[in-house]
Amino acid sequence: MTADSNKQIRLASRPSGWVTNDNFTLTEEAIPDPADGEVLIRNIYMSVDPYMRGRMNDVKSYVPPFQIGEVLQASVVGQVVASRYDGIAEGDHVMGMLGWENFSVCDGRLLRKVHTGLAPLSYHLGILGMPGMTAYVGLMKIAKAKPGDNVFVSAASGAVGSVVGQLAKIHGCHVAGSAGSDEKVALLSDEFGYDGAFNYRTSKDLSASLREVSPKGIDVLFENVGGEIFEAALWHMRDFGRVALCGMISNYNDEEPQPGPRGMAIIIGRRLTIRGFIVTDKPKACEEYVVKAIQWLEEGKLKYRETIVEGVENAPQAFIDLLKGRNMGKQIVRLSDAG
Ligand SMILES: NC(=O)c1ccc[n+]([C@@H]2O[C@H](COP(=O)([O-])OP(=O)(O)OC[C@H]3O[C@@H](n4cnc5c(N)ncnc54)[C@H](OP(=O)(O)O)[C@@H]3O)[C@@H](O)[C@H]2O)c1
Repeated sequence: MTADSNKQIRLASRPSGWVTNDNFTLTEEAIPDPADGEVLIRNIYMSVDPYMRGRMNDVKSYVPPFQIGEVLQASVVGQVVASRYDGIAEGDHVMGMLGWENFSVCDGRLLRKVHTGLAPLSYHLGILGMPGMTAYVGLMKIAKAKPGDNVFVSAASGAVGSVVGQLAKIHGCHVAGSAGSDEKVALLSDEFGYDGAFNYRTSKDLSASLREVSPKGIDVLFENVGGEIFEAALWHMRDFGRVALCGMISNYNDEEPQPGPRGMAIIIGRRLTIRGFIVTDKPKACEEYVVKAIQWLEEGKLKYRETIVEGVENAPQAFIDLLKGRNMGKQIVRLSDAG
């Protein structure tokens, strides 16, 4: 193959429990040609996200499973090399659900043009993309946070959690969170403006840690993790509290579903509302968020962190690292130069 061939990551096998590098295979092909109505894209940044773990299983969900032998899919931002679709031209920057690969061909109707002047390109996969939108939809539209609310966020330093905390502060809430290392906990207070935070891995008593960082109890729980931290936080909810059930990453690699949380009667006693959501449920809110987020970024009200790994061949490890909590902020893979 030449230097300009297309490296791709395909699903080799379905994981049983934790994902390993053996579940992926690297292949190399010629760069494809676009047919009528299609666009050839040089991929620049791709996102790895926790939901991809679910797509590796052969189960029905809100997105179809990845198929063995096929190139995995991801949100990608890239530059058009050749276009046979009216409205998208060579040199344009676009984003879409493309492949874990260096070049993708895609139906032009499924691509969205990206304005390059607004923010670094990779931001469109994080703070200006799906994770940022998820934070806004969950906090403002599902949990309906309001000034004075006590908000608690699990996986608080990640792509979604870091934005939830900052949005909560912008909207006049008290916000606390948990994360999996002291470095992440420091980031929460020093950079993202959290009022309180603790390391759930070293906490000897999750209830005591929660009481310390959210002394008045929790009005809004933004749940990203599930398991023990979710159970402990439920017991710390105030009457009529609202839970935006965003993710349960602590369960994604389980071979068998976990029981629990225990003590669900607390939901009755405290008259809690618990609502699961998928970010795409609220397309208008997503658009509304991007406009606001660009302004907040310009004003310095939103800060952003990302971990960028180089090369498509390292995408499987970047994904595994994300599931193991080794990312600081949004996990991104750079596939080629942005210039
Ligand atoms: N509902 C939706 O539409 C939607 C959309 C996007 C994302 N999500 C969900 O939102 C959550 C966060 O996603 P993200 O993209 O922002 O990922 P992320 O937080 O950037 O990365 C995942 C983080 O989860 C934490 N984690 C992993 N295993 C854990 C465990 N066993 N216990 C506690 N924490 C664990 C790790 O942080 P620590 O080091 O702090 O443990 C890791 O860094 C995920 O559950 C995801 O599935 C939902």
